[in-house]
Amino acid sequence: MNFDTLEKELSGKVLLDEHILKAYSKDMSIVEGRALALVRPQDEQDVLKVVRWANESKIPVVARGGGSSLEGESVPFDAIVIDFSSMNKVLELDEQNLLALVEPGVVNREFNKFLSQKWLFYPPNPGSWEISTLGGNAATNAAGPRSYKYGSTRNWVAALEAVTGKGELSWFGTRAKKSSSGLDLVRLLVGSEGTLAIFTKLLVRLAPIPEKRVGVIVPLKNVTLATNVVVALSKRPDLGISAIEFVDEKCVNALNSVYHSSIPECGAALMLEIESTQSELETKLDSLLHTLLRFEPVGEPLYEDDVDSMWDLRGRITFALEKIYGKQYREDVAVPVTNFPKLVEGVKELFSKEGMECVLFGHAGDGNLHLEFKHLESTKLHQILTQLFSLSVKLGGTISGEHGIGALKARYLNFEHSALALQIMKQIKSVFDPNRILNPKKSFDAL
Ligand code: LAC
Ligand code: ZN
Repeated sequence: MNFDTLEKELSGKVLLDEHILKAYSKDMSIVEGRALALVRPQDEQDVLKVVRWANESKIPVVARGGGSSLEGESVPFDAIVIDFSSMNKVLELDEQNLLALVEPGVVNREFNKFLSQKWLFYPPNPGSWEISTLGGNAATNAAGPRSYKYGSTRNWVAALEAVTGKGELSWFGTRAKKSSSGLDLVRLLVGSEGTLAIFTKLLVRLAPIPEKRVGVIVPLKNVTLATNVVVALSKRPDLGISAIEFVDEKCVNALNSVYHSSIPECGAALMLEIESTQSELETKLDSLLHTLLRFEPVGEPLYEDDVDSMWDLRGRITFALEKIYGKQYREDVAVPVTNFPKLVEGVKELFSKEGMECVLFGHAGDGNLHLEFKHLESTKLHQILTQLFSLSVKLGGTISGEHGIGALKARYLNFEHSALALQIMKQIKSVFDPNRILNPKKSFDAL
């Protein structure tokens, strides 16, 4: 392939070195593809030029943030990779209106460190927040622990600038706090996994940091008890809980051994965040403790003032597990929270019937369960996934709480979406990207 004509148009370079292309041919999943070229744009004009060139040449383009996607979303299949790591500026901070204009390559955790100086924060904090970018988070509609209170990324993107597959640049959305004007294309584009348009700027919403934040780690006897505590806590808005995370014994052991944390030995633990004013904090923590005692925790709860460090630790579970068990297969389903115990029981039954080990954790307050198990040959894997997704959908849930569909889960979309819904998704694709050059063969476009 000759990329000379592309390079001439750009202010940045087109990189073709084999070892670089190899590094950009995978993400955090098991999916591997092939990058044809790597481009690091300096601004939206560079992105526009790449997409126009690709559209004329009929060569696919994949946008990449931190490369931490979990379903192969950012893996190129014989495509040009646009790496946003050098478009990482905060362009504007509007403290009064709680808005920030950013480039897509801004790293989530860094952004939050910057905002904390102004007593502000950007709520979606996926496990990958130490490395993932706001653009990547928006592309997958990422969530995380604090989504229990604040919701997924979709709630926090007010407007965005993007390039469609036809090579057209436009703004979508508004700065206003609310709008009843036309179709909500921002909500459509967020979570579209780079299949409809490539983001070049994001106008994100911010929240004020609460007066007090406390992390609480609760060690419990077993997984069943832990899931029951989750449901009990979800009925207690008075406690000011903003996150309810669940980790099983294997996660606890992995974190303690790899990251030298000191979570007490237990069958399962919950990691909570409480938000409060200074004056109400003691009452809230007392009521929480009172509620927890009914479930006979196996030790005293641990209290953590540096809550973000607690979320750093929690976010490293996938890395800790990989270190101990090697690269595993990861899944991500979500149900209404009251069905979370049934989901976990069903998953445990499924894996014990198959005689397989499985690690469980997740954003339990959102009914969102992550599971990891050893990689299987494709027929067996399909059998397990079919049962897992059937269970989740039967319990009123989804086949992906927050990791997206990417290259791994397209064949299961019809468990959740009607034939008409999937047909409409494909029709929308043809409006934004008629030549199918934007991240093709991902999600609904793989059907
Ligand atoms: C997490 C990722 C796997 O929660 O979603 O750590
Ligand atoms: Zn997660």
